[in-house]
Amino acid sequence: MAIRPFELERYFAEHEFSAKYLLGSSDPEAMSVEDLLVFEPGAESGLKKIWLGYTESLGDPALRRDIAALYESVTPEQVLVFTGAEEPIFAFMHAVLEPGDHIVVHFPGYQSHYSVAESRGIEVSHWHGDPLQNWAPDLSELPKLIKPNTKALLICTPHNPTGYLFDRAAWQHVIEIARQHNLYLFCDEVYRGLEHDPTDRLPHLADHYEKGVSLNCLSKNCGLAGLRIGWIATKDRHIYNRLAMFKDYLTICNCAPGEYLAGIAVRNIGKIFEQQRLRLVRNLDLLEDFFKRHEALFSWQRPRAGTVTFPGYLAGSALEFCNKLVTEAGIMLIPGTFFDMSGEYLRFGYGRATFAEVLNRLDEYLSV
Ligand SMILES: Cc1ncc(COP(=O)(O)O)c(C=O)c1O
Repeated sequence: MAIRPFELERYFAEHEFSAKYLLGSSDPEAMSVEDLLVFEPGAESGLKKIWLGYTESLGDPALRRDIAALYESVTPEQVLVFTGAEEPIFAFMHAVLEPGDHIVVHFPGYQSHYSVAESRGIEVSHWHGDPLQNWAPDLSELPKLIKPNTKALLICTPHNPTGYLFDRAAWQHVIEIARQHNLYLFCDEVYRGLEHDPTDRLPHLADHYEKGVSLNCLSKNCGLAGLRIGWIATKDRHIYNRLAMFKDYLTICNCAPGEYLAGIAVRNIGKIFEQQRLRLVRNLDLLEDFFKRHEALFSWQRPRAGTVTFPGYLAGSALEFCNKLVTEAGIMLIPGTFFDMSGEYLRFGYGRATFAEVLNRLDEYLSV
């Protein structure tokens, strides 16, 4: 089956660099190279000396050591560095799964979590988050979705687009279900680190499940999407080797300056998380006031983590509203249509430094 266009990315391609105000983006405020270099004395001269030959295909050994140190028990040999988080999702769907397999995917979700699999003839079932329960999926539904050919569960937490974060007990329950059925559990953890209350942070899956795959990158948690550095951590040797083999057909190896700069970010990740978290919580307080003022237009519950939230839109077609908004006011929001939602929803992103100003513009637009 031919792969479907990535609807969300197509919409970004149309508007991200022409709309005046971005209000739907999932990446928080970004940093400059200069901002990053100040974290470590000597980093600037190190950057100038980077050798621009090919890099090691599994990732720079020093970077893999720094990444492994973020986990409780993952070793550098269990870390595989990729170009962003998108590449390892694609690699997992091609190198670990086979046509005829079945996977259960947390839904609504990031489209590559299911479209890549579908394009390979892999059967996909959706495990739905419930908008009336602040997007919590029903744990009792999960075992009912498992079939004899189910090979993997794919969960995203903190979640895009809803901001849903599992609590510890529910997350442990998901791991137990995967273990009972001998399934791979792929957890997209790219928003991890942005829990609004840091005590809500879940352990990394790779530390706690032998068939678990933790996906991460620096795009969402640090605002470093332009580095294009992501990684997989897994203790499952079969998955690791399959992914490493498949990467030879994708990017082969990573960008050398990207890996160098990523090392600085990883070694200082706690400070970067905190900068981002403070902005997110401040912006979310503004958004909470906004939704209180516009109860007739939006239904909303406050998320506990991440950079995005997914309110219901109560005044007609979310797609039409977004198209009008970007044309008439230059404000870009994301309609739920691009997450394959049949109901009317909008994705707001609240991680940017300009958030207050853009929200004011939306307020003005709605009051005319
Ligand atoms: C849940 C999720 N996973 C993966 C990605 C891809 O991340 P990257 O841009 O680092 O490839 C995104 C990007 O929006 C995302 O939201």
